[in-house]
Amino acid sequence: MKILLASSEVHPYSKTGGLADMVGALAKALAHAGHEAAIVTPLYRGLREKFPDMRHVDWYLNLPMGSRMVEAQLWSLEPQPGLTIYFVDQPGYFDRAGIYHEANISYLDNAERFIFFSKCVAHLARYLPWRPDLVHVHDWQVGLVPALMVQQHREGWIKPPPTCLTIHNLAYQGVFAPDTFNLTNLPEEFFGIEGAEFYGQLNCLKAGIAFADRITTVSPRYAREITTEEFGCGLDGFLRNRQGKLTGILNGVDYGDWTTTKNRFLKASYSAARIRGKERNKLVLQHEMGLPMSPKTPLFGTVSRLAEQKGVDIQLGALEEMLSTGLQFVLLGSGSPLFERAYLDLARRYPTQVAVRIGFNEGLSHRIEAGCDFYLMPSHFEPCGLNQMYSLRYGTIPVVRAVGGLDDSVVDYTASAELADGIKFREYTAVALAKAIRKALALYENPTLFRHYRRNAMSVDFSWERTVEDYLRVYRGAVGAA
Ligand code: ADP
Ligand code: GLC
Repeated sequence: MKILLASSEVHPYSKTGGLADMVGALAKALAHAGHEAAIVTPLYRGLREKFPDMRHVDWYLNLPMGSRMVEAQLWSLEPQPGLTIYFVDQPGYFDRAGIYHEANISYLDNAERFIFFSKCVAHLARYLPWRPDLVHVHDWQVGLVPALMVQQHREGWIKPPPTCLTIHNLAYQGVFAPDTFNLTNLPEEFFGIEGAEFYGQLNCLKAGIAFADRITTVSPRYAREITTEEFGCGLDGFLRNRQGKLTGILNGVDYGDWTTTKNRFLKASYSAARIRGKERNKLVLQHEMGLPMSPKTPLFGTVSRLAEQKGVDIQLGALEEMLSTGLQFVLLGSGSPLFERAYLDLARRYPTQVAVRIGFNEGLSHRIEAGCDFYLMPSHFEPCGLNQMYSLRYGTIPVVRAVGGLDDSVVDYTASAELADGIKFREYTAVALAKAIRKALALYENPTLFRHYRRNAMSVDFSWERTVEDYLRVYRGAVGAA
């Protein structure tokens, strides 16, 4: 099949979270399985210098944004056979220091930036000589693409390909003031209760849910959760009415990047059979983070956006209580200044036990996954979550709250003593998380059982080869129906 994907982030070109990993890996896996994939993504600052093989495409975009026209150029890269990345070059919108914000303040023109980007996607879907069989858009930034394509169909595009929307996180919907709808140049009827309108505002994700032929989300459990009031972020009813076209597919892992052997970010290679390298990585990590190098001290870690979603408040509470046991904890993250300060404060008060790095650091994220004994992910909600799956492969036992993709990807002792590879808790409280950490410490004290968990963890397989089949089933269903 020929699949055109669109996303505001794609690894290794741009990334703030798992969206980038997922889109980059899905496209690679499609190409690897013998299909043709192309991704449209913005040309952010520095990308041309970083990827000098990028080629200018002889193609000018000149698209209406309300009453004015905006131009863009196009660049392309072919990182592997069967995969092309198209970069939309509009310096006014995308040649900036950040992707969505700077110094924690969102760009004021995010609606305009991503409406324009969505128009470029719809335009390319229509006019690229390589005619895609299906257009697969990801998250609110490209949520308007299906609606734009429906309108192009009405205006004479004879057979537009069907569309699929993947919701990576329902909490981010791209909601903007009503007058931004004018920038879409769509007829007023698209701004109705069955379309892009949400309590009088423009809602880009809702438009995608309304007009895409298929909707997927990134784990089976999250697909069920988002149709409930608790997790539906105001769109649960709207999603319930479209349950027939909604599927949950657990993300895969790119084991080419996330590997414990031949990983340029790690000091020592290791595997389930040769675990000594992991012990070395632990000492290296303790040293890098400025903690006492102590092989016997249980080491917990987290790599995360510091947002409410990730359970920061209960994590801080549980750590306060559990640090008395002598455990060590390392954190790499960035986000809400309040949370950043709270972690830095914890590190200041427990300098031999807690180390915190604020910022985004790919290499360190691998070293934390590899060097820790346990990985903490107490999310309030989690559409899929990738770090718990990376932890499993790295033999770092995940301690997770049983929600969304965390519940779908980790096996607890109570579910199967034989297959157990992590620790789960249910209640969203610091007390429940502290209890789970206590279980982790008990596991650590039992080397035979700990080895059993580790072996299970390192052998589970979330590779994309399998996941890609689930997406192809959805694609074929949409193409068949069209
Ligand atoms: P989300 O997409 O909600 O942030 P995921 O678990 O799906 O959560 O994916 C997060 C991805 O972003 C992982 O690849 C993780 O390693 C990476 N990441 C998050 N914060 C940082 C950081 N501060 N430095 C490096 N990588 C990070
Ligand atoms: C979102 C979700 C995360 C998921 C990622 C990739 O950022 O918060 O749970 O893993 O998208 O699908």
